[in-house]
Amino acid sequence: MREYKIAAIGGDGIGPEVIAAGLQVLEALAAKDGGFRLQVEHFPWSSPYYLKHGHYIPEGGLEKLKGFDAIFFGAVGSQEVPDHVSLWGLRLPIAQGFDQYANVRPARVLPGVKSPLVNGQGIDWVIIRENSEGEYAGNGGRTHRGLPIEVGTETAVFTRAGVERIHRFAFELAGKRPARHLTLVTKSNAQRFGMVMWDEIFFEVARDYPDIRTDRELVDAVTTRMVLKPQTLDVIVATNLHADILSDLAAALSGSLGIAPTANLNPERRFPSMFEPIHGSAFDITGRGIANPIATFWTASMMLEHLGEPAAAARLLAAIEKVTGSGVLSPDLGGKATTAEVTLAVCAAL
Ligand code: IPM
Ligand code: MG
Repeated sequence: MREYKIAAIGGDGIGPEVIAAGLQVLEALAAKDGGFRLQVEHFPWSSPYYLKHGHYIPEGGLEKLKGFDAIFFGAVGSQEVPDHVSLWGLRLPIAQGFDQYANVRPARVLPGVKSPLVNGQGIDWVIIRENSEGEYAGNGGRTHRGLPIEVGTETAVFTRAGVERIHRFAFELAGKRPARHLTLVTKSNAQRFGMVMWDEIFFEVARDYPDIRTDRELVDAVTTRMVLKPQTLDVIVATNLHADILSDLAAALSGSLGIAPTANLNPERRFPSMFEPIHGSAFDITGRGIANPIATFWTASMMLEHLGEPAAAARLLAAIEKVTGSGVLSPDLGGKATTAEVTLAVCAAL
């Protein structure tokens, strides 16, 4: 029996609700499959925990996480804690501390889900987000605080090693898809140092992948292409901030933020990788039992893929598609189903 150690961090808002639903589906899947077992440990790290203890991750917490095969993460963000404090207190220390530099964000219109685009069926993308540096490097400061001459700086950091490894990762992934097409997203017309280097390294790496078609698009222009000609895109590689924005657009165009999954990968597997729905805490619906668990289920499927259980991953994705296709949809998708109802339907479909 193959056994995997999973660290579950529900976090804030609807995070604990969707993670509980995700674990329920994973348990059903493991029971059905019979070949693997999950050993789950829960971590209470969240904003309420921070308000009580003064930290999100306790002393030695990251060290403890290192012993797990994967991290299953809900959301972080609370109305009681400034967003930059919660983000830098929980999610970024894990993603950056564990060198999860490749953030993978697929987008597709699932059966039964309506895209706001007339040509939404053309959406079948994977956005690769650089996840360790760039605009999220945390490099900056404030000087002359509170005075009229106050200065704030926020320096994007691009390293040759960091840029090369994400481009290489994107080429490898693009090579596994039928379209074998990779679009470089940039803003090297206005930003002439880091972004120009970003482009140069992309085309250096491209020489090692002659069978992959490439093109280059400015980040503002690619938004229009996503909306008007979605079928012309396949895999997209973009910086930390650019891909953050594009992936929300991709989720909305595929029907709802409630379905979009993500994997924060340390491809070399020196550290555990982290899997999370991209939607965040969603205070407006927290505790109402109507959060869409589909993003978390899709995320769980990506986690299984990474753990080396591709058959179970595919089976879960097929069950998700069967359920959305049959019209069991949560309110964000125009339906009436609760989190529990969608979860039970997916368990039954398995
Ligand atoms: C995401 C989220 C986060 C980000 C937020 C919660 C800070 O929007 O994963 O896309 O910007 O990275
Ligand atoms: Mg985002």
